[in-house]
Amino acid sequence: MIRKKILELKKNKNAVILAHFYQIPEIQDVADYVGDSLGLAQKAKEAAADIIVFAGVHFMAETAKILNPSKKVLLPDLEAGCSLAESCPAKKFSKFKKKYRDHIVISYINCTAEIKAMSDVICTSGNAVKLVESYPKEKKIIFAPDKNLGSYINKVTGRNMVLWEGICEVHDVLEAEAIINLKIQNKEAKLIAHPECKATVLEVADFVGSTTEMLKYTIRDKSKKYIVATETGILHQMKKSSPEKEFIIVPTDETCSCNDCSYMKMNTMEKLYSCMINEKPEIIMEKDIMDKARKPIEKMLEISENLNLV
Ligand code: 13P
Ligand code: SF4
Repeated sequence: MIRKKILELKKNKNAVILAHFYQIPEIQDVADYVGDSLGLAQKAKEAAADIIVFAGVHFMAETAKILNPSKKVLLPDLEAGCSLAESCPAKKFSKFKKKYRDHIVISYINCTAEIKAMSDVICTSGNAVKLVESYPKEKKIIFAPDKNLGSYINKVTGRNMVLWEGICEVHDVLEAEAIINLKIQNKEAKLIAHPECKATVLEVADFVGSTTEMLKYTIRDKSKKYIVATETGILHQMKKSSPEKEFIIVPTDETCSCNDCSYMKMNTMEKLYSCMINEKPEIIMEKDIMDKARKPIEKMLEISENLNLV
């Protein structure tokens, strides 16, 4: 059985498997840690194992390598990218940045190492609001690459950050109209949404947060039913933690309720097994770009620790 083989390899090779909540349930169930981008970055930094197997997408594995460069970091499928990271090419962003020379750059972790290297500090959906609030109100800020998360932070904090116009193709397609219809049909349900969703969706949400925060909310909240506006993978842990509760994923249109991130779902148990046995594909990066990108990520981890976001 492939699960047993993966667990054996993990032990024999002194490897740790870090998985994001959007991975398929079978992968989540063999992982040592399942979490959001903030938790995964923290675990990657402190990992003592010889090999970090990253069950997630490319920018996440890159972050793990940057934070722990002496470790071998494996990604089951190197093609597992991210529409949001792709929506912010380094050359275009560099030009954009030059227009706002007196601004600092806060970048969402869902970006390439090149964008991180051009940033002053990184944030995740789990710490973005508090991290922005840790800067004085008059500080001029560029926020990249997610315009939905950026405008949500602007609204909550009363800032006027300049936003790069990037989107996540999984969250940005979720429409308020479909969600309101679901709310009408399920009056007792709470709507929980990821901040990568459009403002029209976030405005009608009962709770907005990162995947970890959404999961924690469903555990502590007393409701029995939730309408979930994010990627389907998160339902696995929600159902595991609260088997008595009902979770309805927001449909992308009338015919499909499968909000799968095609990049996250490139990883399969077979690819996970294969990458562990062959110790490839491996994340290989230039030292210079790693050194430049490490500073703003470490700054984020330091601020998060001071703000008790760990
Ligand atoms: P978090 O799990 O950090 O909330 O991020 C969601 C996401 O889209 C990751 O790609
Ligand atoms: Fe990127 Fe969106 Fe997929 Fe997350 S869900 S990896 S932001 S495309």
